[in-house]
Amino acid sequence: MSDGRKRKLILRGFSKLIKEDKLRIVAEMMDNQVETVELLKSFWHSDQDKQKVFDEFSENTISNFYIPYGVAPNFIINEQSYLVPLVIEESSVVAAASSGARFWSEHGGFKSEIKGVVKIGQVHFIWEGAIKKLHFIFDELKLYLRNSTKELTANMEKRGGGIIDFELIDLSKEIDNYYQIKVSFDTRDSMGANFINSCLEEFAIAMKDFFKEKDIFKGKEKECNIIMSILSNYTPDCLVKTWVECDISELDNIDNDLSGMEFAEKFKLAIKIAEIDPYRATTHNKGVFNGIDAVALATGNDFRAIEAAGHTYASKGGKYTSLSHVEIAGNRFKFFVEIPLAIGTVGGLTSLHPLAKHSLEMLGNPSAEELMMIASAVGLANNFAAIRSLVTKGIQIGHMKMHLMNILNNFNATKTEKKKAIEHFVVHRVSFSNVEQFLLKIRNGKKS
Ligand code: MEV
Repeated sequence: MSDGRKRKLILRGFSKLIKEDKLRIVAEMMDNQVETVELLKSFWHSDQDKQKVFDEFSENTISNFYIPYGVAPNFIINEQSYLVPLVIEESSVVAAASSGARFWSEHGGFKSEIKGVVKIGQVHFIWEGAIKKLHFIFDELKLYLRNSTKELTANMEKRGGGIIDFELIDLSKEIDNYYQIKVSFDTRDSMGANFINSCLEEFAIAMKDFFKEKDIFKGKEKECNIIMSILSNYTPDCLVKTWVECDISELDNIDNDLSGMEFAEKFKLAIKIAEIDPYRATTHNKGVFNGIDAVALATGNDFRAIEAAGHTYASKGGKYTSLSHVEIAGNRFKFFVEIPLAIGTVGGLTSLHPLAKHSLEMLGNPSAEELMMIASAVGLANNFAAIRSLVTKGIQIGHMKMHLMNILNNFNATKTEKKKAIEHFVVHRVSFSNVEQFLLKIRNGKKS
């Protein structure tokens, strides 16, 4: 944007314009209008029907933003092998996942179990009345609410899911006259956000009628002031536990300078640090989410919801801590993660996005529970690979090697220059300035 006047511009009715006009307006705000249009158009899909699908995912779409789609092979989870699709921009994540998967494929694979699949929604309301009356009539209210969503829940019930139960939560000590109806759901293979929110909004309407209709309520008690109705992204009972374990002697070859036991103890200490220190725990858990988010993106799942739930779960004891833990018992090393993962394999983008659909096919069209196990195994693999590097050679060697291509691209390196650089940096330390110096040398050498 070239001047202050443009920065203050308010665009009215922008969303109603056709895509070409939106693009033109955006370009007019840039100094390089022609290049802006060319650049954004160059990322449009050549197949107009496919492009239309992407345009309609969101509002005001003017182009597509590419992120690499990769695969991590060799994931053995509960004795089954998977080739896992990962969508991620960070250069070392797929390599870390693959290397973690490869290591554990030779040491028993990942084991995983589902601890629950319950999701939560809340109707938040203000009500000035005698709470005893509400407790007294609560079973009747539950039935009334169930009946109000019969049509909405019919299909979900056919698939074995639906509303599980209702709970009355009294928070009137915190906020005057504030209560919640906390509803638990089983949404089977769908993430279920739309289903849950539709039910909750229906409950809210029904609640207003219920309070008005029932004779037990008098005067002000007949008024139920709905504040909002929305699912909770905190899903501590939609939980998966995934682990790897082996004899400590199997860790002997991980590092030249450490015995298996020394490695295991150092690894455990690194986890302990993440358990006691929120600064370290945040980075540690970010490493877990490197893998989980990449699976979520590749399969069309909502990674923001998953992250939000995971970080809240990591704080459930009142202090933010590590999502993964280590146990060393005698000769055995066990590393595990326990994490809430509200993900789906039907509905939402899972079948609308052609590559999300493809990812699910690549995984053998898993159920939501199976995908929870896969995603958590990838998270654990990434976490293992990161801690293994951190307590041995450090992460920068591997990280910068992976980043080499990005640096070379930054300097517009040619194919030949890239080939030479890859050979050179097998034995030299990669850094931005080292790569710059290396390219300068071969470019100057060429001139002379
Ligand atoms: C980088 O994306 C992730 C790590 O920082 C995770 C960690 O420190 O455990 C390597």
